[in-house]
Amino acid sequence: MATTSPSSNGVAATTPQRRAMTVPDFISAKARSIRLTMLTAYDYTMARLLDNAGVDAILVGDSLGMVMQGEPHSLKVTLEEVIYHTKLVARGVRSSLIVADLPFMSYQLSPQQALESSGRLIKEGGAHAVKLEGGVRSVPAVEAIVTADIPVMGHIGLTPQSLHRLGGFRVQRDAAKLLDDAVAIERAGAFALVVECVPADLAEQIRTSVKIPTIGIGAGAGCDGQVLVTHDMLGLFTDLRPRFVKQFANVGSSITTAVEEYCREVRAGQFPGAEHSFRS
Ligand code: KIV
Repeated sequence: MATTSPSSNGVAATTPQRRAMTVPDFISAKARSIRLTMLTAYDYTMARLLDNAGVDAILVGDSLGMVMQGEPHSLKVTLEEVIYHTKLVARGVRSSLIVADLPFMSYQLSPQQALESSGRLIKEGGAHAVKLEGGVRSVPAVEAIVTADIPVMGHIGLTPQSLHRLGGFRVQRDAAKLLDDAVAIERAGAFALVVECVPADLAEQIRTSVKIPTIGIGAGAGCDGQVLVTHDMLGLFTDLRPRFVKQFANVGSSITTAVEEYCREVRAGQFPGAEHSFRS
């Protein structure tokens, strides 16, 4: 399908558009052995780039606390902030599935609170689905949210909102607990499950224990899909370098080189040249 969209110079440009990814498509990918792709975005420009590149799902993660806000963790991120960033992302997305994170303390107080917060991410933010952390303990929240037909993605293993209880960002190895968590979240009605920082063989066991797709991060190749923080995989954010991140580009160093060149040209009187100036 081709659509017409305004380009930066105001002239309409025709670009091919892929079919929009839906929650049922996401679920059926597992049965069709199609590996799913998910990346994070927090603004219009990045969302537009990821969507154009064909990523299946865009996560407005609470990792924005680290990569956007410069905090050492995600615990201070508020629901208002995730709604704000989801709005920016939604404007840039045409085909990817938008999943918005429920931040710390926006769903733990009661199932009612979980449902209200999720409703705001959908209604005000423009998300298609929400994600929350926790296994068995988060079952009442998932059950409440799905009663309003809001699709929920679970998140087990290393759950960054549990940072203080876990004592750090550590690989999670309790097989019995993780398998219980995965099955409980599926039974509660989630349509997909993020599995973070789990040994690869255990993640594979989790994948075969549930029918919903598992999306791994630091969980090896035996998941139904993969997710990374975009700023990590592009080399934009280098404060932390987890072993599971592959840097697919070094955009950070391209930016530094370009900015150094800009400063040099301005200081030398080389920019702007005649081609970047107007005549009277
Ligand atoms: O907040 C986030 O970006 C996430 C992913 C790392 C899964 O939860």
